[in-house]
Amino acid sequence: MPTPHIAAEPGDIAPDVLLPGDPLRAKWIAEEFFDDPRQVTGVRNMLGFTGTVDGRPVSVMGTGMGMPSMSIYATELVTHFGCRRLIRVGSCGAIQPSVELHSVVVAAGACTDSNINRQRFDGFDFAAIAHHALLAAAVAAARSAGTAVHVGNVLSSDLFYPPINGQSPLELYAAAVRMGVLAVEMEAAALYGVAAQHGAQSLALCTVSDQLVHERFLAPQDRERSFRTMVELALATLRDAGADA
Ligand code: HPA
Repeated sequence: MPTPHIAAEPGDIAPDVLLPGDPLRAKWIAEEFFDDPRQVTGVRNMLGFTGTVDGRPVSVMGTGMGMPSMSIYATELVTHFGCRRLIRVGSCGAIQPSVELHSVVVAAGACTDSNINRQRFDGFDFAAIAHHALLAAAVAAARSAGTAVHVGNVLSSDLFYPPINGQSPLELYAAAVRMGVLAVEMEAAALYGVAAQHGAQSLALCTVSDQLVHERFLAPQDRERSFRTMVELALATLRDAGADA
């Protein structure tokens, strides 16, 4: 039976899911990395695909942008389709000078300016963290592949554009910069909150597409190269992390 936002049958979606924001990225990942990919859903053009990688079933589905959208898809994937390990493969804007373009930020934790996890956590501040086995496997896989990663906090923001005219993102995120947060993106805290709420495992990987300190930004054709490296890292993570760890 489908859910309001995913027109698939239970069994159509694998326990392991990659989650890009952009549904066309989901299609690209399925075509580039999966054997025998098939589209399993397309409600609102939020495309999802299932195939195999090295003989193991895996799915990929777009989540859209922002925490409400991520929450909808992640919740339905976990509660209705039995998904157990969810890895966001997204992009982010670095707010530390040493976090360079093309590198991958592994979100050990996700701070947020959103109220979304407080609503899940009786009004308290939830420490939104990656699942330890996925995190450890990602860091180990990056090391053996020679992929440049930065491991630490991200800030999941509701706002892409600062609320005050003329304010820069770095002014808006001054406290996060001071407290060592690596990068800003818009979904990880919600993914971690949903996973904790429903007992699933999750991790967010984000390529640095924007270097906000140095004001350098990847061109669209350069994004694909970093995205490929990150997807390889996510698939190695799923392969190497014990499913029940
Ligand atoms: N802000 C928020 N999300 C992002 C950014 C950013 O600068 N870059 C990529 N995702």
